[in-house]
Amino acid sequence: MAFQRAKITVFGAGFVGSTVAQRCADKELGDVTLVDVVPDMPLGKALDMFESSPVERFDARIWGTNAPEDCADSDIVVITSGIARKPGMSRDDLLKTNAQIVYSVVDKVREYAPKAIIIMVTNPLDVMTYLAHHRSGFPKQRVLGMAGVLDSARMASFVALELNVSIKDISPMVLGGHGDTMVPLPRYTTVSGIPITDLISPERIEAINKRTQTGGAEIVNLLKTGSAYYAPGSSVVAMVESIVKDQRRILPCCVLLEGEYGLKGSWQGVPCVLGKNGIEKIIELKLNDAEKKLLDTSNQHVAKAIAECKTLLGL
Ligand code: LAC
Repeated sequence: MAFQRAKITVFGAGFVGSTVAQRCADKELGDVTLVDVVPDMPLGKALDMFESSPVERFDARIWGTNAPEDCADSDIVVITSGIARKPGMSRDDLLKTNAQIVYSVVDKVREYAPKAIIIMVTNPLDVMTYLAHHRSGFPKQRVLGMAGVLDSARMASFVALELNVSIKDISPMVLGGHGDTMVPLPRYTTVSGIPITDLISPERIEAINKRTQTGGAEIVNLLKTGSAYYAPGSSVVAMVESIVKDQRRILPCCVLLEGEYGLKGSWQGVPCVLGKNGIEKIIELKLNDAEKKLLDTSNQHVAKAIAECKTLLGL
């Protein structure tokens, strides 16, 4: 029997892509190929990361390349390519530019890594995940978007600060699209099994929900020249790890819904079992009327953005 390390290709060697590459290597999740169009830059970053391995003592090869076909035979492809938000821009403002970039990357993945699982990271996230699925023709189990893990991590961070307790015991849940209409779910957010609705006042929960929904913009406004990358990078890596180790963690991912949650043909973040085949199962939570309404609103927002994208690209 041949044992082989997983091959993880990361498109885009910006802050998010290089953070993902570094953490995947640090955790020895597989060998990493870092691809970017900027001449030589990904080669430099990858070599620098690899040269940290004798010190950090991790066994993983990291290669940088300008040739997208070097994604050949990848098990996982993470797509971060695209421009990031600047202050005052919504994720949807990025649509046109990033749609064209994602299109060209997905074409290469389809050609050279036809068995890969695609994790989309480029914004606007839900639209780009739709686009990757449409363009690749891959089964829906192998095309997913990273957003819910990040949004949930933000919610968990704010709950930990509010209660002054360890983040380790917090199990957060945020559904919906990766935008201001995302749906934090306090009833399903627990601390050692206790719903936060039993621990935090409704007013403070509302404030936590709001801060979660605008968590990306909060970082953009502070950084001024780009958007978040530490927490997004960690969130991608949690998904990669669950897949390459077949951990079957339940993590919120952007997926194609075909009847779940009463939604058909929608791209929304919902809890999924993540394993070696990608999306192994979609978990349907029992939402109350108010929660369902919020998810429907989020879905309408995403559906509108997807419709605009289709018009733009003539799909
Ligand atoms: C964020 C951006 C990357 O949420 O979407 O930080």
